[in-house]
Amino acid sequence: MPLPPLCILPGLLLLAVTGCSPQTPQSGIDPTDLRQVARGEVVYREHCAACHGADREGQPDWRRRLPNGRLPAPPHDESGHTWHHPDADLFAMTKHGMVPPLAPEGYESDMPAYAGVLSDDEIRAVLAWIQSTWPAEIHTMRRRMLEQAGR
Ligand code: HEC
Repeated sequence: MPLPPLCILPGLLLLAVTGCSPQTPQSGIDPTDLRQVARGEVVYREHCAACHGADREGQPDWRRRLPNGRLPAPPHDESGHTWHHPDADLFAMTKHGMVPPLAPEGYESDMPAYAGVLSDDEIRAVLAWIQSTWPAEIHTMRRRMLEQAGR
């Protein structure tokens, strides 16, 4: 039986007003998916917190290069620049580490590559958890910034 128009109308209005669709984003990283987010928090504690901080605060003085020329781990909270990157780049950096095309050839980094350690689903989950902790205005700014950059 088709839905009566009265049921469809509020849904359409909501779509028009919020501009958000109930579908999972193309990247599969969905900070509104509570199951994915809960799984991601576990992955974060086990695999990322040691460097990026229990509270996603990053390593001390994270903007200053270490004596060996490498960068410390940046925060994953809103004070860092993780939110400047599109989902696809966050996924690639976590899976493959800091390698081309996202870093110059021969770039040296302490960010491990998680291919073979975490499944693609676990990588998407941990990124969903990180994103779920960003305030709404960061999500709005991120959307605008990436749209302007055509990403
Ligand atoms: C051994 C320490 C270490 C661990 C563990 C680690 N990272 Fe990193 N991560 C780094 C460092 C150092 C950088 C900065 C790399 C650079 O720019 O050279 C970094 C950078 C990143 C970036 C890019 C952030 C940006 O703003 O450019 C992402 C995304 C990231 N890490 C995700 C993760 C995730 C997700 C995990 C857990 C699955 C993780 N990292 C575990 C050290 C670590």
